[in-house]
Amino acid sequence: MKKFILKVFRGSPEKQYWEEFELELKPFYNIISALMDIQKSPYNRKGEKVTPVAWEQGCLEEVCGSCSMLINGKPRQACTALIERLIESTGSSTVTLAPMTKFTLIRDLVVSRDTMFNNLKKMHAWIDVDGFFERGVGPKMSPQVQDTRYKLSTCMTCGCCSEACPQVNEHSSFMGPAPISQVRLFNSHPTGKMQASERLHALMEKEGVGCGNSQNCVEVCPKEIPLTESLAEMGREVSKQAFRDLFGSPNPEEK
Ligand code: SF4
Ligand code: SF4
Ligand code: FES
Repeated sequence: MKKFILKVFRGSPEKQYWEEFELELKPFYNIISALMDIQKSPYNRKGEKVTPVAWEQGCLEEVCGSCSMLINGKPRQACTALIERLIESTGSSTVTLAPMTKFTLIRDLVVSRDTMFNNLKKMHAWIDVDGFFERGVGPKMSPQVQDTRYKLSTCMTCGCCSEACPQVNEHSSFMGPAPISQVRLFNSHPTGKMQASERLHALMEKEGVGCGNSQNCVEVCPKEIPLTESLAEMGREVSKQAFRDLFGSPNPEEK
């Protein structure tokens, strides 16, 4: 059977190194299956017994985002990365795995995505309810609004867009495109609109829409979310909010 090399980033914030594993290329083998095989038999390419590689996984169907990592340098999900395709696309029998760099390293391929979740909290990325009684069918939305909102709602907070974004770096407080796109999602909901200005003010505080329009985020988003469209729209909404604040006029949705 054909063999391939998995070159894996190892370590913690204190000590980092690369380690190679040689594995048999099975049909429809993906990165998670390869990592599971290493876990069962943790011997590196030199034949030394090593600590199994640490990684995160959840849904195994590209819905939770927890298995996101750099695969051959590109941010994507390990559960849907087929090794045969990776080898075909590069012509190399070595596949590299590394943790995303814009998040705090925990160990090996595991990072903390807490910054993204905390930014979602700051953006009030949910719809408030005032009880769990029967409320009937809920507010009506046009099919166009439903289509747009559905696409935005598929964000799985995987972090790939932040990883690819040059504006997300240690010198900037730009939170990355995903939470901003979620502001668009919740501000376009008939009930969510009632907290629209709260979300827009939170955006203003966080170097909100400071995007350089490089489009990297759109290229890597596994859900094909129109992130730059969201950023442009939220940029306009933030400016309108600033005018409303200046002239003391209330948000029309919140009267
Ligand atoms: S378009 Fe904006 S948010 Fe997207 S990667 Fe470029 S700078 Fe970042
Ligand atoms: S917008 Fe796309 S790339 Fe960014 S976190 Fe959501 S699903 Fe991932
Ligand atoms: S395990 Fe959930 S996206 Fe890969």
